[in-house]
Amino acid sequence: MSAMKKSLTEYPAWIALQQHFEQIKDHSMPQMFAEQPHRFEQYSLQLDDLLLDYSKNRVNDDTLKLLFNLARERGVEDMRDRMFAGELINNTEQRAVLHTALRSSSDTPLLVEGENVLPAVQAELQRMGAFADRIRSGEWQGFSGKAITDIVNIGIGGSDLGPKMVCEALTPYIHERLHMHFLSNVDGAAADQLLDSLNAETTLFIIASKTFTTQETLTNAHAARDWFLQTAEEGQIAQHFVAVSTNSEAVSAFGIDPQHMFVFSDWVGGRYSFWSAIGLSIMLAIGKQNFSQLLAGAQAMDQHFCNAPLERNMPVILAMLGFWYNQFFKAETQAILPYDFHLRYLPSYLQQADMESNGKSVDRNGRPVDYPTGPIIWGESGINGQHSFYQLIHQGTRFIPADFIASIQPHSSRQQQHDILMSNVFAQSEALMRGRSLEETRQLLQDSGVDSATLEIRLPQMVFAGNHPSNTLLLKKLTPFNLGLLVALYEHKIFTQGVLWNLNSFDQWGVELGKQLAKKVLPQLQATDTINDHDASTNGLINFYRRSRDIPAS
Ligand code: F6P
Repeated sequence: MSAMKKSLTEYPAWIALQQHFEQIKDHSMPQMFAEQPHRFEQYSLQLDDLLLDYSKNRVNDDTLKLLFNLARERGVEDMRDRMFAGELINNTEQRAVLHTALRSSSDTPLLVEGENVLPAVQAELQRMGAFADRIRSGEWQGFSGKAITDIVNIGIGGSDLGPKMVCEALTPYIHERLHMHFLSNVDGAAADQLLDSLNAETTLFIIASKTFTTQETLTNAHAARDWFLQTAEEGQIAQHFVAVSTNSEAVSAFGIDPQHMFVFSDWVGGRYSFWSAIGLSIMLAIGKQNFSQLLAGAQAMDQHFCNAPLERNMPVILAMLGFWYNQFFKAETQAILPYDFHLRYLPSYLQQADMESNGKSVDRNGRPVDYPTGPIIWGESGINGQHSFYQLIHQGTRFIPADFIASIQPHSSRQQQHDILMSNVFAQSEALMRGRSLEETRQLLQDSGVDSATLEIRLPQMVFAGNHPSNTLLLKKLTPFNLGLLVALYEHKIFTQGVLWNLNSFDQWGVELGKQLAKKVLPQLQATDTINDHDASTNGLINFYRRSRDIPAS
């Protein structure tokens, strides 16, 4: 991997963008729409059943041209091709990054260190499919001869968020007998609440952990096994526990038969893993045909990302717009606002995907960066957000680019409710962009008949500055294929931004330190001697916790 010599901010295209920013930073979007009546046609793009409208952004043709110049100068296309070719672009772990291979239908061998990885991918998909058929048909039975009704995925991070988000998104496709559950939090309350609601005879546990060393997952897995053994016998574990991992020794040590273990490779990053065997819960829920549709949607986005020119490339466009705000407008966050009930876990899924990938301050060559990197990703169901945090987006002091995501055709037959929902999508992005001027607000207040004193008090409070950028993503319907398109779109957006910032987006050293310290603290919580080998705050908290633990709360 050739080291990039210059810093991002020394690149000619970055310098040109900085100059351009000074010229355009105060331009108003309503003015731009007035000058460019065809902005929607110019700045929107469709791929299969997914439409991206990016016209409500503070950009013009010059901005976009400069942004794409920068993408070329930073080598986005070259790095993309290396990723798809299986080069070891995760340089700190010397690994390829090939979640795209999991959804490839190509016959052309894909070599990682000399070995074609595609046959193993296909073989595991078939094993998963055969297992899913048995669970779904009822052929696979629990220890008392009953079909499985409840499936519990025990995992955390990428081994939880993807399966949970997808199972929720594709709820209308879930087998009617199956109820899906996700246990990630090590807080015993979560295990209690779930296990109390289950019947051991008809429950299947999937222990999903790439490393099979993750404390939270193994703790919950042991809790589930102990709970199961209150009703069943050791020899019946095989019918109720399966594992998904890259670590077969640890799976065997836990007591799961390797025949009931589903595998994937270390070149699948945790946050990119639901396309692999980590997606077993998804496959059980929606069946193998729907799972292949999910993969097919992602593959369609992969092909688009590889083949479309940068100027018409959806992930690149989203990446460059986010970059523009992050670098020059100093936006610190990116809001993800789904207006589809079933996409309600998408914001937390994308938090891990983006923030674990690009939340870094040292570049891939080990040099501290002198520019902002990954944004804070946050969000919530948009319609609920309107009644809580949208106030700040509209009138606060922060600059918050937002992505609105909605489905044109609902799964619900309540068309009128869907139209209400959609009217809010369109109205919110319009309001953010247009705002409401002092004159318009004065007129509105006058028309409402308020007295002049009230008018003067309210007038400044009711003005909306507007000029807040947003993208709108419309899916024809939330189908497996379209969900695949959407998730792969964000994956490649994150990848592209990582290249711009010269980061290794595929390691996550930042999660290690806290884990290591917790290992030291845990035995101290169970010891009796006074703890004094931390800082004063941590010592104080540990000692206070121990003193207070056994005293009943008042
Ligand atoms: O702590 C972060 C992390 O390593 C994530 O990257 C990963 O998705 C998660 O933990 C779970 O890891 P595992 O699948 O190995 O249990």
